[in-house]
Amino acid sequence: MSRPRPARIELAAADYCGEVLRGLRRTPKRLPSKFFYDARGSALFERICEQPEYYLTRAELEIVDAHAADIADALGAGVALIEYGSGSARKTARLLTALRECAAYVPVEISPSALQGCARRIAALAAGLPIAPVCADFTQFSLAPDVLPPHRRRVVYFPGSTLGNFDDAGALALLRQMRRQIGDSGAALIGIDLRKDAATLEAAYNDAAGVTADFTLNMLARFNRELRADFQLRRFAHRARWNAEASRIETHIVSLAEQDVRVAGWRFHFAAGEAMLVECSCKYSLPQFAALAARAGLRVQRMWTDARQRFSVQLLVPLR
Ligand code: AVI
Repeated sequence: MSRPRPARIELAAADYCGEVLRGLRRTPKRLPSKFFYDARGSALFERICEQPEYYLTRAELEIVDAHAADIADALGAGVALIEYGSGSARKTARLLTALRECAAYVPVEISPSALQGCARRIAALAAGLPIAPVCADFTQFSLAPDVLPPHRRRVVYFPGSTLGNFDDAGALALLRQMRRQIGDSGAALIGIDLRKDAATLEAAYNDAAGVTADFTLNMLARFNRELRADFQLRRFAHRARWNAEASRIETHIVSLAEQDVRVAGWRFHFAAGEAMLVECSCKYSLPQFAALAARAGLRVQRMWTDARQRFSVQLLVPLR
């Protein structure tokens, strides 16, 4: 296991088309944000992380940099690290440098190109570290028995506040999956964005350079290429707004005109102004997140924040 193995492909192409069609048939229309991440979408997300308004990545990197040794101590030596949605693995690179004798690294990523880039990057950084990439939707994968070395503490690493992209039921299901995968002696290390003022949040999801808008509309370009769709991108717009009651940023693709669109041979009607929900980014208070974790059988053992308390990294262990 010392070199990155070929990725395990667990994504079914047929499911992808079916899920898109089901989402477009719903009233109101709704598509899951995981469809953002083709090669271009993943590259655009990397650019979002560099935008001045998108504070999340910088705040989380600040935490990992400032507390790397403390986090590594809390995790212990010789752990097997399973990362959900590894992307470019920038934070992971920093964490792995601090960890003592990591026993294995298992990145789980839906985008094959991002997964390959991540495995190469980590292999170059940590020579000799066993890497077992899994190309899968991290909400629906199981760990094959030969993927992890036995008798090692398992740590699920889920940075970036991606848990916030799930509704309560989805986040709970994911935390329960982590609880099962880590067993009784493991842990989960999760990046969670914190609730804050609406102006800061809305600016983060509507950057002035328009990178987030490109990222959102790229979902339609992807469907055009991959699902024989004919969305005209200039007839749709990105819209991200803070919903205080639900404590989340809601991103919609808004139809700028009344129009029909074809996808995989099916016709879909859009009214002028019709908004299709494509992403929720939930923001938590500390007690709210601790309560959610408890429902999954996990408790917050340690928690770190950046100096301005915008973002948190939470270490969860099984509740006894
Ligand atoms: C991946 N995820 C945590 C990002 C977020 O902040 O919800 C995705 C994103 N969407 C727009 N900007 C960033």
